[in-house]
Amino acid sequence: MRILFIGDIVGSPGREMVKEYLPKLKAKYQPHISIVNGENAASGKGITEKIYKNLLEWGANAITMGNHTWDKKDIFEFIEDAPYMVRPGNLPVGTPGNDIVFIKSNGKEIAVLNLLGRTFMQPVDDPFRKIDELIEIAKKRTNIIFVDFHAEATSEKLAFGWYLDGKVSAVVGTHTHVQTADNRILPNKSAYISDVGMTGPYDGILGMEREAVLKRFLTALPVRFEVPKEGRTQLSAVLIDIDSSTGRANNIERIQINEDHPFFS
Ligand SMILES: [Fe+2]
Ligand SMILES: [Fe+2]
Repeated sequence: MRILFIGDIVGSPGREMVKEYLPKLKAKYQPHISIVNGENAASGKGITEKIYKNLLEWGANAITMGNHTWDKKDIFEFIEDAPYMVRPGNLPVGTPGNDIVFIKSNGKEIAVLNLLGRTFMQPVDDPFRKIDELIEIAKKRTNIIFVDFHAEATSEKLAFGWYLDGKVSAVVGTHTHVQTADNRILPNKSAYISDVGMTGPYDGILGMEREAVLKRFLTALPVRFEVPKEGRTQLSAVLIDIDSSTGRANNIERIQINEDHPFFS
């Protein structure tokens, strides 16, 4: 089984990239399942119902989230009726939304999980203990388990990867918006990368207008960050090959689409 995962979609430039390239990536790599991270899909913060539906229309089978899950009020109106959205699993009991989503492909099921890190992030429940519970639930139905670990610190991401080696099919990092070159198959056959990188503006700073970010660094004054409306764009993703009978990963490849790395069909 092949899984395509697209990293943090930022604002309309990110959505345009998904709309244009997700069908092309599907035609080229023939993934059985396509998953995208949508925590920044609406103007860089959160997601709306319309965008959730658009992402599914454009070819996503599941949408993972992150620390920006609740940034658009709209989320509370539709999250309970969003069967393909996975919100972070290590939030307080009673938080609306799914902490696990099962997607079917070719008679096989894949469990999709999303956990938040705690280092340099808002306090949340322990992702290590919580994922053990979620894996137990997932294993009752499938041995193909995909984890989007949304975290800031590379050390915490690596620790999570090693903790899950052999327990899940893949652990991919999101949130820091810059793709890391450490994609690998861990010894017990879990695919790993510290960060998949983002999808959206190519010339901003983590997807935001760079002038505003620079102003904050130069003046230390509060500055409002916006997603640039125009300019060059990029897409960051990974392609993971999994043995669907064992749930073990065979390969994880990085994908970058931007002016410096053009897409060839
Ligand atoms: Fe993000
Ligand atoms: Fe994030």
